[in-house]
Amino acid sequence: MTPFARRFVGELSFETLSGNKVFIDWSEEPLAHINLARWAEVFLIAPCTVNTLSKLALGIGDNLLTTTALAYNGKLLIAPAANTVMYKNPAVQENLRKLKERGVIVIEPEWGVLACEEEGEGKLASEDRLLDWVCYALNDKPLKGKRVLITCGATREYIDPVRFISNDSSGEMGFSLARVARWLGAEVKVIAGFTTAKEPPEVEIERVKTTEEMLKAVLREFESADVVIMNSAVADYRPKEVKEQKIKKKETLTLELVKTPDILEELGRRKKGQFLVGFALESEKLVENAREKLRRKNLDMIIANPVEVISAGHHRGYLITERGEEEFVFDTKLESAKFIMDRVAELTSS
Ligand SMILES: Cc1cc2nc3c(=O)[nH]c(=O)nc-3n(C[C@H](O)[C@H](O)[C@H](O)COP(=O)(O)O)c2cc1C
Repeated sequence: MTPFARRFVGELSFETLSGNKVFIDWSEEPLAHINLARWAEVFLIAPCTVNTLSKLALGIGDNLLTTTALAYNGKLLIAPAANTVMYKNPAVQENLRKLKERGVIVIEPEWGVLACEEEGEGKLASEDRLLDWVCYALNDKPLKGKRVLITCGATREYIDPVRFISNDSSGEMGFSLARVARWLGAEVKVIAGFTTAKEPPEVEIERVKTTEEMLKAVLREFESADVVIMNSAVADYRPKEVKEQKIKKKETLTLELVKTPDILEELGRRKKGQFLVGFALESEKLVENAREKLRRKNLDMIIANPVEVISAGHHRGYLITERGEEEFVFDTKLESAKFIMDRVAELTSS
């Protein structure tokens, strides 16, 4: 904490709430700045005042924080927070540019109500974005230069203007894959149907409603992609006709369904060097059925999940390629996503 930060919040509050020791000066340790700089694998300053970021740009070390930053040669991240006019000040912007040129990651502030009660750009990035950038900084970049296209979520097939057929897909797996792919250096684009999971920060997400719309969006992006991961839960059938008016209530209602296009199969046919990954949720003969799908749809990798993962607290499955299969069990989909993306990176760099 800088001396000014301590005027806002005392270090005892920080120490108690975080459960970690808080450093403020050199009173306990004469070489605190050197020791802290050697100790850290990643260094995040949040919030970072325009004063502190300008000092960093000039190489000024006048307190423990700025001196530690001078002594640090790992990944440095700053999350500025300031009044909009202060942040846009040309001197501040020039200092930010200098820091970026030197490889400092600037986590841009967000739009919102600021301490001065004005509304504008200058609000400290959300905790979710801060943590995501720390993970980004901590990971190697084996997917640098690669474009990764990911689909996720559920599509809707409309019966009439207000009713539809859909499924329970949350989009969590696809969003986790997108998060991790960004950490590994990829340029990521997500095409999502309907989702309830939290969106990954700093990732471009295009929304679609129906399977047909998803097919169009995927085909538009497919040629320029290096890796394509089809994780969406698309409807296999849609009503043969979509009623223009809301259907009136009656005793029985029969819907005739027709097959929707098989996006994955279409991509398998068009594939020219893209690394294509599919997902298979199976209730029986898990590996056998998934392996058959891998061949039939011309995929490079398939992730087979047993039906139970939908409600289970853990995430289990098999990662299958032509070379073999690996079983995995993790507590969260984010950990599974890391495991899967690491394998994708290995197989696309060789
Ligand atoms: C109430 C109050 C709120 C402030 N908020 C900010 C802020 O959000 N961002 C900023 O860059 N400076 C802000 N300032 C100005 C800084 O306090 C001043 O630049 C200070 O020198 C920053 O010191 P530090 O970088 O060592 O923490 C604020 C000042 C006051 C009195």
